[in-house]
Amino acid sequence: MVKVYHDKDIDESVLKGKTVAVLGYGSQGRAQALNLRDSGTKVLVGLRPGGKSWKRAQEDGFKPVSHLEAAQRGDVVLMLMPDMAQPSVYKEEVSLAMKPGKALQFAHGFNIHFGEIKPPKDVDVIMVAPKSPGPEMRRQYEAGFGVPALVAVHQDASGHALEKALAVAKALGSGRAGVIETTYKDETESDLFGEQAVLCGGVDQLIRRGFKVLTEAGYPPELAYFEVCNELKLIVDLIYKSGLGGMYRAVSDTAKWGGMSVGPMIVDDHVEDNMRRALKAVRDGSFAKAWIAESKAGAKRFEKLFAECDALEIEKVGRQVRRMSGLEK
Ligand SMILES: NC(=O)c1ccc[n+]([C@@H]2O[C@H](COP(=O)([O-])OP(=O)(O)OC[C@H]3O[C@@H](n4cnc5c(N)ncnc54)[C@H](OP(=O)(O)O)[C@@H]3O)[C@@H](O)[C@H]2O)c1
Ligand SMILES: [Mg+2]
Repeated sequence: MVKVYHDKDIDESVLKGKTVAVLGYGSQGRAQALNLRDSGTKVLVGLRPGGKSWKRAQEDGFKPVSHLEAAQRGDVVLMLMPDMAQPSVYKEEVSLAMKPGKALQFAHGFNIHFGEIKPPKDVDVIMVAPKSPGPEMRRQYEAGFGVPALVAVHQDASGHALEKALAVAKALGSGRAGVIETTYKDETESDLFGEQAVLCGGVDQLIRRGFKVLTEAGYPPELAYFEVCNELKLIVDLIYKSGLGGMYRAVSDTAKWGGMSVGPMIVDDHVEDNMRRALKAVRDGSFAKAWIAESKAGAKRFEKLFAECDALEIEKVGRQVRRMSGLEK
C-alpha cells in the first residue's frame, strides 16, 4: 500500500522562517508561488530577466530576481521551468548556489531520473508533483480545496528531506486532497506513460478520430464536435466523482450496453500492445533520449505537430462553437 498523508499528518514547521525560491512562473510556477504565499510561506520568484513572465510575476505582487539570486537566497529551490530548459538553467545558475543545507525540488522527476541534472551529494533532492495543471491547482486552492500530489526523495542530505517535501505539499493545498509518497522512478515513468497513453495522447486521438469518422460519414461538424468532444467533459466529471460504474449508472441503458460491449472493439488488445510499447520506451530511456534530441535540434517536429493540431477541422469548429456559447472569447 502507498502511504497517503493529509494536512493533519504534516508538520509544516520545517518551513518556518525559510524562503522558498520558485524558479519559473508558468503553469506550475505561478500557481505554486501564489498558493505558497497565501499559505504564509516566504516566496521569492526567480526568472530570466526580460522574459514574458517577469511582468506577470510583478503584476501578482512579486519582486522577481535572477535564477541565481533566487537560488542563493532560497532554502528550498523549486525548478518550475519546462523540463527541457532545466538542465541549462541548473548548470549555468542554480548549481552555483547549491550549498549544504539547501533543498532542490522538482515537480516532475524527468531530469533527475534520466540523469540530466546531477546535484551535489550534500543537498536534499525532493519532489512535489501536483497531479493537475497549474491553473486548476490554483482554482482548487482558492475554492478551499486542493489537488492531490506525489512526494518523493531522491537524496536526503539533511535528514529532513521528506518533511520538507510534505510541508511544501501542504502549503500548496495538496494535504487537503491527499499526498502520496512515491519514488522519482515511479513518478517519472507513470507520469510519462499516463500523459502519452491516456490523458493527453490517448484522449486526443480518440477525439480527433471520432470526429473524423463522423464527419467523413456526412454528419455536420458541429454535431460531431458536441458528440465526441464537448460531452466528454460531462462524462469525465462523472468518472472523477463516482468511478466508471458511477458514470455507467448515470447514462442510459442503451449507452451502458453500447459502451461496455462495443468499447473493447474500439480500444482493443492491439491498443494495449501499443501502450506496452510506449511504456517500454519510457522505462528504457529511449523516449527521454529522443525528446531531448528533438528539443536540442530546435524542436522542429514538435512545432510541426502543434501546427497540425491547430489546423484540424475540429479545432476550427470547436472554437466557433465555444465562442457562440460564451465558453471562449
Ligand atoms: N503544466 C503542468 O501543469 C504540470 C503539471 C505537473 C508537473 N509539471 C512539471 O512542472 C515543471 C514546469 O512545467 P510548466 O508546464 O509549469 O512549465 P511552463 O509553464 O512551460 O514554464 C514557463 C516558465 O518557464 C520559463 N522558461 C521557459 N523557457 C525557459 C528557458 N529556456 N530558460 C529559463 N526559463 C524558461 C518561462 O519564462 P519566460 O516567461 O521568461 O519565458 C516561464 O516562467 C516541469 O517539470 C513539468 O513537468 C507541470
Ligand atoms: Mg507530465
